[in-house]
Amino acid sequence: MSAEKIIEEKKQGQALITEPINGNGKKLFIESYGCQMNLNDSEIVASILTNEGFNTTQILEEADLVLVNTCSIREKAEQTIRKRLQKYNAVKKDSNKKMKIGVLGCMAERLKTKFLEEEKMVDLVVGPDAYRDLPNLIEEIEAGRNAVNVLLSKEETYADVSPVRLNSNGVSAFVSITRGCDNMCTFCVVPFTRGRERSRDPQSVLKEIRGLFDQNFKEVTLLGQNVDSYLWYGGGLKKDFVRASEIAKATAVDFAQLLDMCATEFPKTRFRFATSNPQDMSLDVIHTMAKHKNICKYIHLPVQSGSTKILQGMNRQHTREEYLELVDNIFKIIPDCALSQDIITGFCGETEEDHQETLSLMEHVKYDFGFMFAYSERPGTLASKKMEDDIPLATKKRRLTEIIALQQEHSHYRTKQHVGKVEEVLIEGTSKKSDVHWKGRNTQNTVVVFPKENYGIGDFVNVKIEDCTSATLLGKAVGYSENNWH
Ligand code: 5AD
Ligand code: SF4
Repeated sequence: MSAEKIIEEKKQGQALITEPINGNGKKLFIESYGCQMNLNDSEIVASILTNEGFNTTQILEEADLVLVNTCSIREKAEQTIRKRLQKYNAVKKDSNKKMKIGVLGCMAERLKTKFLEEEKMVDLVVGPDAYRDLPNLIEEIEAGRNAVNVLLSKEETYADVSPVRLNSNGVSAFVSITRGCDNMCTFCVVPFTRGRERSRDPQSVLKEIRGLFDQNFKEVTLLGQNVDSYLWYGGGLKKDFVRASEIAKATAVDFAQLLDMCATEFPKTRFRFATSNPQDMSLDVIHTMAKHKNICKYIHLPVQSGSTKILQGMNRQHTREEYLELVDNIFKIIPDCALSQDIITGFCGETEEDHQETLSLMEHVKYDFGFMFAYSERPGTLASKKMEDDIPLATKKRRLTEIIALQQEHSHYRTKQHVGKVEEVLIEGTSKKSDVHWKGRNTQNTVVVFPKENYGIGDFVNVKIEDCTSATLLGKAVGYSENNWH
């Protein structure tokens, strides 16, 4: 498992807290599993419930309402959450009989009322598009009834809900720009749990960024399952764009334009974005990245497999050659751009040759970071209906180990390329390993650690990179960067 992956997994399932405010005296304990979208959704939920008077708590035992925002992407994610639900139920039985328990997010959407009927572990089930209904649903459960809302929406983007930043470092924040996914990759449960793709009004995106800027946030990550597919034409599903009026089509805003608007209006804010799907990433986006210093030179560009045959089985809409052409274009336009991948090993029908093609594609790209997984069949997906999960677990795992080992080599190779350079770093907080060192990130998203001196959290600092470990850069600050502001 890569260092990045280990860190990602450790971050999962944290209890999320905000500063207490005066309210109805009720305490909310909210935990989040899964992707960054889920974390951001938990911030939306916290905002809705803060308006209802809830205070957040980190102490499970004292909570009146326990919410877990869940992930369905792999079976293991669901198992982890089931264990957490057992833990909540044990606490409820032992010490807090009045506690109410709710599941949010992808697992709620996938399993719907099954949670209430079969498992009897929860009072409340709410899908990703139904969080505005939480106040009503909570009234229901307080009256002793179970409550469910798993309706998916064509319109909902929570554009007007101002997220309560949970466990924030005060420096970087997420802003969602699209919801749902229309790609229909055959392995993926997301189109079923998060519905069809829709984009958020660019004015509401800019307004949220303005709010973050006013609170001194320095970095914004634009989020979506597929950000490059962003398209605002006055509201509605992406798939309905073809039926939009001529004027709506002519004034539509795509992702390259949104990125340009953000970077131009907030020249002192750093922008990142995730996730990019190769078939939707346009050259315009890459040129926009190159044009603006404040758009970070890092693209998370999942490939899933290096074999065109497997990519077809996955319904990925691009070949190995098309992916490599995109990568070559990225490096041509932005030579120092960092890239990361998602790869699945042991998808249906994957031969040893297919696996070798994934390894050779990695050799070509030499990704900076990677997130790698063994294929996990998900009920309801096209692959589960039409294809046989025919690769033995031991083979999936062996291929995964080989891919992780190669990624570690490449990460180390890429990390070493920074040594000797002076790079701009945004300070995020104290290094985990040393109280006297800051940690931050360079534009490529590599973690940089250096002595604190008189610099502070949220400062943009130029750091001379002197050394590195396999995934971290070590250096010394040589002064504030020209971008520094308070
Ligand atoms: N099995 C294993 N990995 C999966 N992913 C998505 N669905 C599955 C699955 N069924 C991985 C993909 C995706 C990342 C978020 O999770 O690599 O890009
Ligand atoms: Fe998990 Fe995907 Fe849902 Fe995110 S969108 S929580 S990764 S299933």
